[in-house]
Amino acid sequence: MSLSFEGRVVLVTGAGGGLGREYALAFAERGASVVVNDLGADTKGGGKSSAAADKVVEEIRAKGGKAVANYDSVEYGEKLIQTALDAFGRIDIVVNNAGILRDRSFARTSDLDWDLIHRVHLRGSFLVTRAAWNHMKKQKFGRIIMTTSAAGIYGNFGQANYSAAKLGMLGLANTLVVEGRNYNIHCNTIAPIAGSRLTETVMPPDLVASLKPEYVAPLVLWLCHDQCQENGGLFEVGAGWIGKLRWERSQGHIVRQKNQPMNPEAVRDQWDKICDFTDATKPTSTQESMLSFVSVLSQVESEGGVEANPTAAAASTSGINPAEAVGQKLPPTSFSFNHTQCILYALGVGMSTKDPDHLRFLYEGHPDFSCLPTFGVILSQAVLMDGGLLSVPGINIDPTQVLHGEHYLEIFKPLPTSGPLTSEATIADILDKGSGAVILFDVNTYQDKELLCYNQFSVFVVGAGGFGGKRTSEKAKAALPAPQRAPDAVVIDSTTRDQAALYRLSGDWNPLHIDPSIAAIGGFKAPILHGLCSFGFAARHVLKQFADNDPSRFKAVKVRFVKPVTPGQSLQTEMWKEGNRIHIQCKVKETDAVVLSGAYVDLHPAPDASPQTLTQGGGLQSELVFAEIGRRISDTGAELVKKVSAVFGWEITKDGKSAGQWTIDLKNGSGSLHSGPYSGKADVTFTVSDEDFMAVVRGTLDPQKAFFSGKLKVRGNIMLSQKLEVILKDYAKL
Ligand code: NAI
Repeated sequence: MSLSFEGRVVLVTGAGGGLGREYALAFAERGASVVVNDLGADTKGGGKSSAAADKVVEEIRAKGGKAVANYDSVEYGEKLIQTALDAFGRIDIVVNNAGILRDRSFARTSDLDWDLIHRVHLRGSFLVTRAAWNHMKKQKFGRIIMTTSAAGIYGNFGQANYSAAKLGMLGLANTLVVEGRNYNIHCNTIAPIAGSRLTETVMPPDLVASLKPEYVAPLVLWLCHDQCQENGGLFEVGAGWIGKLRWERSQGHIVRQKNQPMNPEAVRDQWDKICDFTDATKPTSTQESMLSFVSVLSQVESEGGVEANPTAAAASTSGINPAEAVGQKLPPTSFSFNHTQCILYALGVGMSTKDPDHLRFLYEGHPDFSCLPTFGVILSQAVLMDGGLLSVPGINIDPTQVLHGEHYLEIFKPLPTSGPLTSEATIADILDKGSGAVILFDVNTYQDKELLCYNQFSVFVVGAGGFGGKRTSEKAKAALPAPQRAPDAVVIDSTTRDQAALYRLSGDWNPLHIDPSIAAIGGFKAPILHGLCSFGFAARHVLKQFADNDPSRFKAVKVRFVKPVTPGQSLQTEMWKEGNRIHIQCKVKETDAVVLSGAYVDLHPAPDASPQTLTQGGGLQSELVFAEIGRRISDTGAELVKKVSAVFGWEITKDGKSAGQWTIDLKNGSGSLHSGPYSGKADVTFTVSDEDFMAVVRGTLDPQKAFFSGKLKVRGNIMLSQKLEVILKDYAKL
């Protein structure tokens, strides 16, 4: 499918000639409405004319495209965006392309040379983009292009002013990427090379002619299309070739010792190591960069005055030996708890007495007092909290680099509300993901010798990859994508400002969730909610929505932690039912950011009749009748219970063999229908073939005759069969 821009409104600055003109023509050709901006200045920023922009607009219109001109300087950003809004009602794409040159050797660069270049390139891009920003944010779509230059990336004689302004645009882009991410605003930067009036003075004429602007435009179009998920990229492009650039950082070297002043001699002596790009890393965010400094602080502290050496630094990033570590068991840990911990956990994951059906998890005196199934993670996490992972031979990692990436929990028996329970942990596998290592950590939790639950922690260790290990494991419990349709149920629930402060009392004491200064070091504006807290919210939403808050129906849950939640934000759990598997995706409602993905909860089938369990025996005609009886009972059961007050058991046979069992309870509560074996006692039980049952229902076989001819067998209180008529005549009509 070709890439269309139908419905999109694009502003190209400096589109009166060169590259900008080419972009404007290409966008218009593919259906976009284009604002052709150009001041009509000379290459040094002097003069002004509307002719350049008008000419391009005419070209577009002549081909049947949609375009309007704008003649303002990019220094009046608002006016450019206003032209788009006035003409087309919106702004989707901004290509910051306008540019001039004032080349001078550095010493001869005047204030004016410096300022003019900055005003057009850097300040102009800032002003135009800022004017578009809130429109893009509101409509949750925006694509921005910054135009940098090889002169900025690598430096070029006589272009100090231009290089500085051009690389400033890359810095601007880097932060727009971070701020726009949650709003589907993408910003990418290109460093083009093309023949134009800007380059005709520095390039030989045949090169100017062959490096055509049309070899650059396709990249700009792709980066601006809805389908393109690239964000924060930097590309060199020209002559039909496109390449991507990124930052690289050497492993570096620690030149400071604990309790010693740091001195320039140590820097000199370790210079080769500081600059050695062997095994270089490729940080992609300030957080990633920051983490290594936090790690250095803890490394220097733990050196205990011993001189820091390169192997210590290297070990912190690549100290994993799967052959030694996989299969290692950690010392078993015991966890004692009572109802207090169960209740504290339920409050920690947002349960509240304002929902009456939450009381069974919040009040130890409740007749059905239970432990939430996801409390299973609390039982097992003590193994990790005690620093167990760091004691495993073959795993030499920095604890500050460890992130909880995914989690799986399976429950084999409803969890008790007190006990000492024992957990045993094994390193199930270690994967090499390049930028980091994934350690799969299996924890089994037992009550005496009985296995209660199984947890799989999938932890990501930043910077610990590259040890030549495998990338996948059959031991990993995989995350699964949600179906591609609207969710079957959505629950929105708010977390409180103190959600993390409350949740941590269940045993995850990481200060990242409470201490603003630690959160700042991690690159967060404020302490963040525990991923396992959002996990608890999402799982209980499913339990309520699809299992009537019955913990015995809960089988397993899997999640992938994608993004943090700030306490006080609202969680939106989207659910898709596929048989007994409920796929989930959890978002922060305020920002629409996905926080849990690839997630699902597996439920045990409901013990009573439900649409899935009605198909026992397979192909019995009587099933439809019972389904109908079930529906009628749920509508008018209370009335029937008053009239009938009995429990009827049914054994349906097919070809002489038992093929289905049903129990119609018209004695308890407001009545119910059960499919399959029944745990309670029926007052009367009928055995009849599927065909004869249908004949009775259709009125072609008299029940009494059926009884006397042996077609209908009755056990128990035979007098109650008189009441059968009420059910079969009035409630079994199909
Ligand atoms: P060009 O000179 O053909 O096009 C630039 C356009 O911007 C001109 O039409 C000019 O009138 C307009 N303009 C200048 N000041 C303006 C202002 N204040 N407001 C609105 N419009 C203004 O140059 P070319 O080569 O097409 O350059 C496009 C962009 O690509 C520039 O930002 C340039 O720095 C950059 N670039 C180009 C390279 C190349 O090889 N052509 C190399 C590296 C970067």
